[in-house]
Amino acid sequence: MCGIVGYMGKSNAKEILLNGLKELEYRGYDSAGIAILQQDTLHTFKAVGKLENLESKIKDFEVSSGFCIGIGHTRWATHGKPTEANAHPHTAEFSNVVHNGIIENYQEIKEELIILGHHFLSQTDTEVIVHLFEENLKKLDPQEAFYATINRIKGAYAILLVSKIAPNKIFYAKNGSPLIIAKGSGGIYFASSDSPLVGLASQVVYLEDGDMGVMDIEGFDLLKNIQNFSVNKTLAQKDGFRYFMEKEIYEQHSVLLETIMGRVSENGVIFDEIDQSFFLGIRSITLCACGTSYHAGMVGKYLLERLAKIRVNVVIASEFRYGGFVSQEDELFISISQSGETADTLEALKLAKEYNQKSLAICNVDNSSIVRLSDCAILTRVGLEKGVASTKAFASQVLVLWMLAVYMGRTYGHLDEREAKLQSSDMLSAIRATKVESKFHERIKRLSKRYLHGHGFFFIGRDVFYPLALEGALKLKEISYLHAEGYPSGEMKHGPIALADSNLFTIALLSEHLLYDKMQSNIAELSARDATICVIGSKECESADDMIIIPQAKSYMEEFFSMMLGLQLLSLEVAIRLGNDVDMPRNLAKSVTVE
Ligand code: F6R
Repeated sequence: MCGIVGYMGKSNAKEILLNGLKELEYRGYDSAGIAILQQDTLHTFKAVGKLENLESKIKDFEVSSGFCIGIGHTRWATHGKPTEANAHPHTAEFSNVVHNGIIENYQEIKEELIILGHHFLSQTDTEVIVHLFEENLKKLDPQEAFYATINRIKGAYAILLVSKIAPNKIFYAKNGSPLIIAKGSGGIYFASSDSPLVGLASQVVYLEDGDMGVMDIEGFDLLKNIQNFSVNKTLAQKDGFRYFMEKEIYEQHSVLLETIMGRVSENGVIFDEIDQSFFLGIRSITLCACGTSYHAGMVGKYLLERLAKIRVNVVIASEFRYGGFVSQEDELFISISQSGETADTLEALKLAKEYNQKSLAICNVDNSSIVRLSDCAILTRVGLEKGVASTKAFASQVLVLWMLAVYMGRTYGHLDEREAKLQSSDMLSAIRATKVESKFHERIKRLSKRYLHGHGFFFIGRDVFYPLALEGALKLKEISYLHAEGYPSGEMKHGPIALADSNLFTIALLSEHLLYDKMQSNIAELSARDATICVIGSKECESADDMIIIPQAKSYMEEFFSMMLGLQLLSLEVAIRLGNDVDMPRNLAKSVTVE
């Protein structure tokens, strides 16, 4: 997904912008560019592909000492192919712009500007911004011209614009796409997320939708809602692991302790951040999310219905937005999102709010759009997740939903104190189960070589292990590019089993605590069709070709977290053997801020 950086000050703008863009690489991109305005000259550089391409284009450009300003961008194509012409910054005669989001009415503006004599070089929606700004300058001063431009465009945007007409200023606007302004000893910084600011900024302002302005070197202190910024740089590093995804798998057992800190004790579950009265009178819940977060929501449905006896509807945000929305009274709308910026989930939340539903966010990023818009939020607290394929965020979402189920079960009187205490102790065991033992990882690494060349994968499970099967299949396809589908085991005979043969790999999640015999029979059905079967479970299974043995567990949720670890490591090792870039899989982006 697109990323934005900006800088004004006396440090080396070229280095600051390039380093900032590197910190945004994990979001996924197909081209990049920067513009530097110094001594009344605007220097623009763009390149398709990796940032190294941009770096080699800029290597001979020297930034002169003294004050200068600059903007930079990583682009993930939406309007127009990933070409150099379509890369940002976009230029008109004497101004440059970078933009995240979508300008919905760009066609009509473009047509008007063409009639007025403007020449467009790209197929993007973004280019209209800079031309409209220069057109408006014919009648207005720079600030008015920028505001008139922003007021004319419709859609979602985070925008930075620089112009020779105002050589010491950066024009900015935000609506529906994140944008941060920060200050540090080296000057003023802009970014679309925290990571480029780590190590540079000491204070930040997370802009609100509708914010726009013109920043100069004195301007930061005049902003509202200035906060201290203390994100730790080491959290954003790989710590010696081959990939961020691997590091994130390994750190699950420690970050999940953060998730429960102050919330889970031997007495049960509490959420200090939410007033207990918030949950009173709620009769049903909609869980809304996309992708991996949606799978966590599906697990949440089993847990909430089982432990809190409350009816739960789980919806994919992009479907919910355009389906017939029947708003129930006394319904709680819970959005689940790692980034807190996913466009579909955000828009679904806005819709629920229009219908006056109570809203709760389960999110990893404080100050994100989804958190800010929700009535209240439970943060998952697992830190920056850099791997595009979500791992620790998924684990923490499931854990929070489990906590919520116990909490609501107690609130509604469906769980007694003894049961709640038992659940708390099961949570601690489940977290312990996510510690990666080297023998376990080694076994999966060796096994992975047998699973590289089939004609596809089935992942099967029942109950909570069904959404886990979906998640296992999603992880594998995201980073290995192998075809994989998740199914509820009982559904196999209703169609999918037609695909079974020895080149079809099945990963079966065999719980000892839930529906063991039923699952055994489903595995035997596939084995009888000669499918190659790898069972993940704590007991040997006769029909299996391979086993990934997990430790014996006290509860099915402990098994869930052990199996999750096995699935994550299996995807990782298969993808590494296939030579793929695990952290930046093709066609994917970390934060999907467009529809
Ligand atoms: C898959 C993955 C995606 C996200 C989805 C929603 O590994 O990460 O499927 O889960 O794009 O993102 P968030 O949770 O940020 O709303």
